[in-house]
Amino acid sequence: ANRVEGATAVRRLADWDGARLRALAGEFETPLYVLDLDRVHENATRLLRAFPDADVSYAVKANATRGVLETVRDAGLGAECGSAGEVRRALDAGFPGERVRYTAVNPPARDLDEVVSLSHDHDLVLTVDSVDTFERVADRDFAGRLCVRVNPGVGAGHHAKVTTGDAPQFGVPYDRAAALCAEVRERGFDLVGLHAHAGSGISGEGLAAHAELVRRLSALGREVGDLDFVAVGGGFGVPCRPEDPPLDLDAVAAATREAFDCEARLAIEPGRYVVADAGVLLAATTAVTETPETTVVGCDAGMTTLLRPALYDAYHEVRVLAPDAADRPTARCLVAGPVCETADVLARDRPLPEPAVDDVLAVGNAGAYAYEMASQYNSRPRPAVVSLAGDPLVRRETLADLTRLEH
Ligand code: LLP
Repeated sequence: ANRVEGATAVRRLADWDGARLRALAGEFETPLYVLDLDRVHENATRLLRAFPDADVSYAVKANATRGVLETVRDAGLGAECGSAGEVRRALDAGFPGERVRYTAVNPPARDLDEVVSLSHDHDLVLTVDSVDTFERVADRDFAGRLCVRVNPGVGAGHHAKVTTGDAPQFGVPYDRAAALCAEVRERGFDLVGLHAHAGSGISGEGLAAHAELVRRLSALGREVGDLDFVAVGGGFGVPCRPEDPPLDLDAVAAATREAFDCEARLAIEPGRYVVADAGVLLAATTAVTETPETTVVGCDAGMTTLLRPALYDAYHEVRVLAPDAADRPTARCLVAGPVCETADVLARDRPLPEPAVDDVLAVGNAGAYAYEMASQYNSRPRPAVVSLAGDPLVRRETLADLTRLEH
């Protein structure tokens, strides 16, 4: 508990020890993901403190690295999983089956087969997102706990591409959910919960949509009755820009409690909030070119290591870790990666202490949806993941790994 009391609710890129990061880049080479597992633990614990009566699960898709899963499990969170692979990794990392939920989204047959098979030994919760998913689960003789995902008709998020609550592809339409729940029970299944998710990266005005989702889902929970939990999703935002205010977690918790009006237990499942500010991506500068428009800073990380700027125009802070950075003139920089696509940019029009070749750059908020979304595009092996303490967590891929699966 002590380290939580001492923990600030926001950690900026500037708060990381630059010399330590440079040393890790020297030891493990770049690009490199660095994870502060103590920070993961703090973030998880802060959530439990803010939502003392709720079932708090971690959305594994944000970062499924074993070290993260074990840390989150030790802190006392459950695991919300979006695929059979995530369910497996959560169980392998020691989450008790009762704390594992699988939230199906148009689940491939292979996922259902695997999860139903795992459910014979682990009392996990399987969440169905449509009438058809329910039928496919019923066909497989599933005998475990079921939950119904509802489309709440209200969404929010940092970008339209991650705003799920009002997108038609997620969940049973709100006005048909009660009927499906009744049928699930009539046919003898153990319905234990309802689920909805507004979207990802919710802050500011988006929090009103989150509260509305909580109201709608708890009203449905009262109507359906006799449920163990009502899960209102994840989505808590983290500050991206230096001037962004931190998320007031206590205020979010209070608003959630106020909107929640149901006998069942409240359940939440944040991913980003737990891991985003616990990770940085380290890259090395490869070329610096003055152009009339901007200073182009080439580096060895890009869209294959951190897809978010290319996919969502996401803002990630960049810091030049050179010891003399404070003495350098400021340049407006385009930080670009090694892929021949205009999308391969980490930051645009960014004022930075003018970088030089072989500087180490740190990219912030790289704990969530960074390694998870990394690819081998361009035949680029994925980087290693290490802890801030210097423990290797995931080894760097080699060129041999690129062809490992070919016949
Ligand atoms: N629950 C469900 C059912 C979800 O689909 C998600 C995320 C979460 C919880 C956790 O949301 P979080 O607390 O992490 O915001 N790749 C995107 C984010 C996609 C999120 C998808 N679903 C990004 O990098 O911004």
